Amino acid sequence: MNRILKHIPVMKKELIHSLKIKENGIYIDSTFGTGGHSHEILKKLGKDGKLYSIDKDPIAASIGNNIKDSRFHIINENFSRLLDYAKNKKIIGKVNGIIFDLGVSSLQIDDYKRGFSFKQDGPLDMRMNPNHGISASEWLFKSNVNKIAFVLKNFGEERFSKKIAYAIKYASQIKKITSTLELANIIRKAIPIKNKFKHPAKRSFQAIRIYINQELEEIKKALESTLKILRPGGRISILSFHSLEDRIVKKFMIKNSTKATIPYGMAITEKQLNDLKICKLKIINRISPTQSEINDNPRARSSILRVAEIKK
Ligand SMILES: C[S@@+](CC[C@H](N)C(=O)[O-])C[C@H]1O[C@@H](n2cnc3c(N)ncnc32)[C@H](O)[C@@H]1O
Repeated sequence: MNRILKHIPVMKKELIHSLKIKENGIYIDSTFGTGGHSHEILKKLGKDGKLYSIDKDPIAASIGNNIKDSRFHIINENFSRLLDYAKNKKIIGKVNGIIFDLGVSSLQIDDYKRGFSFKQDGPLDMRMNPNHGISASEWLFKSNVNKIAFVLKNFGEERFSKKIAYAIKYASQIKKITSTLELANIIRKAIPIKNKFKHPAKRSFQAIRIYINQELEEIKKALESTLKILRPGGRISILSFHSLEDRIVKKFMIKNSTKATIPYGMAITEKQLNDLKICKLKIINRISPTQSEINDNPRARSSILRVAEIKK
């Protein structure tokens, strides 16, 4: 239970402030985790306010199920299904704010049984929802060198991706890799140049986790759906923890806040012209954590909070 209490939400004050919470507004917390942000939102809501929270992790959802508050609803789902959820709750175009606090929670990473950590030994799983998809162990076993190297390079920006992929496949021929420390040791041995400030398996574990949970695809789908769910003036606040996530968020905000330009002389219908003119978002802010927050919570170091608003 202590582990659950240890998840410290990053930039909590800034994120909640960015929502400009209205007492009777409707809000969505797409990444409930252990509920740090959800509880703050509930504190600011009046009796007619509503908070819909989502988490794909069944353990996180069960924490949410313990909150007895008629203004609060939790669902154990992928946030890529946000639009279906909003349709089901009849809140399309009515929502005042949606937040995303991306990545894994301490509840997941600190629990060796979940298989996310390269520092503690546990079963090599890495699924946020262990009831869906395949474990990291199964995936490594059935994938070829090229596929593994692709994932390590593209989702972990690992420059020794090929060397590591070969080492993983070589080890798998002798015995299927089933534990986190087994994998961490294979990676450590395969890397020719070590960075003394970073664990050699950090990038590869991040890459495999992102792939296994389809994290980048999930974000892209969910962000697009927010445009339909939010009301004019509604806010979207997204906290990301690495450049792959932040790049998607930034691109989404720029794309939807910039007018497209039409090449001179290009034939275009009036409807197409009007569609092009619509830019749905106004970018509000980009916030980094303070040095004092980074000192207190090293997880904050790489975080970026981006905030945008649906145009009125
Ligand atoms: C950083 S934690 C959120 C922590 C939370 N804000 C708090 O204060 O406790 C991210 C959470 O999002 C969940 N999550 C990540 N990707 C998801 C997805 N695609 N769909 C639903 N939940 C997801 C994870 O299971 C995890 O519990």
